[in-house]
Amino acid sequence: MRLRLRAACAAVTSAVLLGTAAVGADGVQDFLRRHWRLPLAPQGPPPASFSSLEASLHPDACGTCHPTQYADWRESTHAAATGPGVEGQLVEMLQTDPQSAIGCLVCHGPLAEQAPLIVRDGETRQNPDYDAALRGKGVPCAACHVRGHERFGPPRRDGSLASAAPRETPPHNGVTRTPAFLRAEFCGGCHQFAPDGFALNGKLLENTYNEWKASRFARAGVQCQDCHMPERRHRWRGIHDADMVRSGLTITARPGAARYRAGDVAVVTLRVTSTRIGHAFPTYVTPRVVLSAELVDETGLAIAGSRQEKIVGREVALDLSREVFDTRLRPGQSAILTFRVKVPSAGTRARLAVVVEPDAFYVGFFETLLRQGAGAGEPDIRKALDTARRSRFVVFEREIPLS
Ligand code: HEC
Ligand code: HEC
Ligand code: HEC
Ligand code: HEC
Ligand code: HEC
Repeated sequence: MRLRLRAACAAVTSAVLLGTAAVGADGVQDFLRRHWRLPLAPQGPPPASFSSLEASLHPDACGTCHPTQYADWRESTHAAATGPGVEGQLVEMLQTDPQSAIGCLVCHGPLAEQAPLIVRDGETRQNPDYDAALRGKGVPCAACHVRGHERFGPPRRDGSLASAAPRETPPHNGVTRTPAFLRAEFCGGCHQFAPDGFALNGKLLENTYNEWKASRFARAGVQCQDCHMPERRHRWRGIHDADMVRSGLTITARPGAARYRAGDVAVVTLRVTSTRIGHAFPTYVTPRVVLSAELVDETGLAIAGSRQEKIVGREVALDLSREVFDTRLRPGQSAILTFRVKVPSAGTRARLAVVVEPDAFYVGFFETLLRQGAGAGEPDIRKALDTARRSRFVVFEREIPLS
């Protein structure tokens, strides 16, 4: 029987979490509800006074005057959010199931001007506002900063809400500043499924905001931006970045005794603790973290049969029909691999490692998609599979002499 793959990140409602979020009575909640009414409305015609550069929704246009944010954004996953893994699925889906394809774009290419099709009164039509040049631009600057051609941004660094450019003057009639940009709720719309969204084993498939909300970081006022946009940088480093992952973990490897003799049973403990991650590690079902221990001989060769592993992650079936296991670490929790092994000879060492496979799910998912036939999306899916296979990295490795 042909396995019916559900598109990754399937089954999404565009009702955002803001209805239930308590984000204070300072107008922030109202702003966020208006700002993130998804799908986003078309920007409409620009003010007559705008130059073509000011009127443009293209990230490169913003980048002309905001080169720092542009340089960061370009290298970020937000810029890559309509990369080959997404585009390779959308090509076919736009033909066979346009409504679902449009649903993907709500997070992966959110401007109204990025969707080739729209659904109106239950009917799919060409989108009159579609701008083909914005296709493939992922989550562009304007998705977070522009509504009806008006610029929105955070308070100045000194906390003031004044716009440098007075209203009705260039560039782009100044900017409307609001503290909403500094709040975790600003990110929630795309990183949290609504309460009635797709769930497995009673847990939403995407639950990052709620995980944060339940953590000590939320209680201490540490927002997503504080960890993911330090110094207001636009890099959004996450599970694909070794330094970012290391910044959130404390990893130790300790032998039970300073020295063993051949024939003794040695014990080495590898411990990974989530010390600065504001949600589950990892938050999504797609990565996999492998703790491993093995014996190596004097020449550094692994001794066959000695390897032990422990997996940290939330593994789900490729068709998202069930959850296989969930061993993710909540903030403060540890994963422990206790390596108990007979020391075969003098000179033996224990090699402990922690390896992150950020796209473990997608490797299997793309392989299956290709086997079933990805149609016009095939070249893109092949590219995405190759990238997914190459994204694994070592966050920790240590060899401990046992004798
Ligand atoms: C012609 C040059 C120009 C273009 C094009 C331009 N901006 Fe600006 N932008 C400015 C200047 C100058 C400021 C004023 C900085 C200030 O208010 O201190 C500004 C301010 C801002 C701010 C507030 C910055 C702050 O310091 O907090 C944001 C956000 C912003 N722009 C976003 C955008 C986005 C998004 C685009 C593209 C859709 C864009 N801008 C296009 C020149 C430009
Ligand atoms: C609620 C927002 C949301 C919706 C809607 C959504 N995604 Fe995603 N998607 C994400 C987030 C966040 C990530 C990054 C985390 C991850 O890898 O799971 C992601 C990652 C992905 C990736 C892996 C990264 C890459 O670019 O290759 C693919 C492929 C993907 N989504 C496809 C889809 C498809 C197809 C749809 C529509 C059926 C869809 N998504 C709908 C939020 C969403
Ligand atoms: C995913 C949403 C998102 C995207 C995409 C995005 N920004 Fe921002 N931007 C923010 C947030 C949130 C802040 C405030 C961060 C903070 O203060 O911690 C911000 C801050 C800014 C600021 C003020 C910086 C400062 O030093 O005060 C400027 C200017 C800006 N963004 C421009 C851009 C430009 C240009 C792009 C595209 C190249 C872009 N942004 C893409 C969310 C976004
Ligand atoms: C318009 C929807 C949208 C908004 C708003 C948004 N994101 Fe994202 N974000 C995405 C999508 C989609 C991806 C996955 C991109 C991909 O790889 O295809 C992503 C990826 C990420 C990643 C990288 C994950 C990895 O794989 O390492 C981080 C970190 C992140 N977002 C943080 C934030 C933060 C912090 C905010 C708020 C300032 C935010 N996002 C706002 C849609 C959004
Ligand atoms: C205390 C710091 C901290 C806070 C607060 C925080 N994060 Fe993270 N986040 C991290 C670190 C470190 C990683 C890399 C390890 C990992 O993937 O869990 C990460 C990873 C991610 C990823 C990568 C995908 C994955 O499966 O892990 C996404 C997406 C993300 N964060 C989004 C968010 C959003 C949205 C918020 C706010 C609701 C947030 N983060 C709050 C530190 C933080």
